[in-house]
Amino acid sequence: MRAYKAYCLAACLWAAANLPSALHAAGVKAGHSLAVEHCRRCHVIPGESNMGIGSTPSFKIMVQSPAKDWRDKFEAFFSLPPHPNFVRIKEFRAPPKAPAVVAPIVLGLNDVEDLMAYVDDLARQLRKQ
Ligand code: HEC
Repeated sequence: MRAYKAYCLAACLWAAANLPSALHAAGVKAGHSLAVEHCRRCHVIPGESNMGIGSTPSFKIMVQSPAKDWRDKFEAFFSLPPHPNFVRIKEFRAPPKAPAVVAPIVLGLNDVEDLMAYVDDLARQLRKQ
């Protein structure tokens, strides 16, 4: 019985120590997939061979921006033009402001969190270089 308890304690301590980083890694991966699926249509995503759209800033340029508000812009990207035309956040009921001229992107706030995990990770990697 005592050994079992010790095992439980060890398992819990292990989980407590490792779960946050495992969850974070899962968020980074999910965010990367979301960026590839939805944002790559217009933005250049590092490591993904795509051309992007000329007038659209690449993710690399944005996360390396010396301006301190680049994270705020990512967190609120769905409210910044041109995104309100085609991005809908499930938790916010308001429909897009204008008729969608491109296929709509529907995301949850959890998806935005995953995107943030991905761009934070990207910023860390790119700023190391
Ligand atoms: C249909 C094309 C298109 C898609 C799809 C798209 N974007 Fe953009 N995005 C743009 C354009 C164009 C700009 C530049 C707007 C400007 O300079 O005013 C931009 C700018 C941004 C900015 C900077 C905003 C600012 O005001 O500086 C962020 C952050 C961003 N996009 C995030 C995303 C994310 C995250 C996705 C995917 C979930 C995404 N975008 C999908 C076209 C797109």
